[in-house]
Amino acid sequence: MNLQKLSSADLENKTVLVRADFNVPIYEGRVLETARLKALSKTIKFLLQSNVKQIRLMSHLGRPKLGDKSLSLEFLTPYLEKALGHKVGFGLNSDEKISLLENLRFDTREELNDKGFAQELSAFGDIFVNDAFSVSHRAHASVESITHFLPSYAGLELEKEVFYLEKVLSSSKRPTVAIIGGSKVSTKIGVLKNLAKKVDTLILGGGMANTFLFAQGFDVGTSLVEKDFKETALALISTCKERGVDLLLPCDRAIVENRVRKEINVEDIKPHECFVDIGEKTLHKIDEVLKNAKTILWNGPVGIFEEEWGAKGTLEIAKLIGKYASPEVLSIAGGGETVAAIYKAKIEQKLTHISMAGGAFLEYLGGDILPGIKALEEK
Ligand code: 3PG
Repeated sequence: MNLQKLSSADLENKTVLVRADFNVPIYEGRVLETARLKALSKTIKFLLQSNVKQIRLMSHLGRPKLGDKSLSLEFLTPYLEKALGHKVGFGLNSDEKISLLENLRFDTREELNDKGFAQELSAFGDIFVNDAFSVSHRAHASVESITHFLPSYAGLELEKEVFYLEKVLSSSKRPTVAIIGGSKVSTKIGVLKNLAKKVDTLILGGGMANTFLFAQGFDVGTSLVEKDFKETALALISTCKERGVDLLLPCDRAIVENRVRKEINVEDIKPHECFVDIGEKTLHKIDEVLKNAKTILWNGPVGIFEEEWGAKGTLEIAKLIGKYASPEVLSIAGGGETVAAIYKAKIEQKLTHISMAGGAFLEYLGGDILPGIKALEEK
């Protein structure tokens, strides 16, 4: 995919309107994770070095209800100053070189991809830069419509995200292994279908593995299972067979009794029990696969990661990827809990690329054309 590159833009003395994704986790008014803020620093540095006149940053935060101003972006300015190492003003009237505009979703026209709103936004700059890959799956006014009103370019972080996702989807470095976890098959059908056509081994964990086990006739006790997706799971199993893809489902799982973790073989589950993680034997099989992998893609926890008794499998997978990651191995991961596990296991430096995106990462892996990315393609 050929994106309009920032390096080809005439930036001198221009006001640049940058779509960022500052949709960060917050708790009691504090930002818990600043990776998305820091991710913007390369583009900002490039713009400053290109002698732009002004940089106006715009983002959404959360999904505010009409009239609810509690998700104002103003509180983010000190965090941004720290992340970018530069003073940041707030609002349209700010004289600072870099300023942040108010939460785009305060205007209901944003999510409607409204042309009028996009035109109003376009008046705030001479050039538009999208550096928010993680929101590029949304056809929203500040992502898609705006590109019809201003010369538009891909920011450096967005370019990097697309580069690595393209690379992993077309990787000839084999064996290729994808580990997909998460609770539901329904949220990742596109990804599973697309990967079943591309990888050598597909490893499934988390709640979605229950649906596959159930489809194969296993009892899964009271575990989360999407019975309506039995046929989908069976179709995916057939696709894997036809294409010679090794589909690895958990052979043992953890259950929890009085908050104490216990591992059992999948066939030994009792009707009142519930799977919360993968077990040691499954981890051993995953180890054997990852040992030889030349391309590794990971998305989604393989257990209930928020709980101590359910986090082991996900953390161990992070450690295994850390163990086998090397410059010869293309290793890419994305998704909130996946990234949290990577940082917890302290392997973030070892991976080739960690995506900042959630939904956009999945849609791209599913083979979808993201509206925000399509809008940045070279004309
Ligand atoms: C994200 O956090 O994945 C993006 O900011 C998109 O947010 P949304 O799901 O509220 O559109």
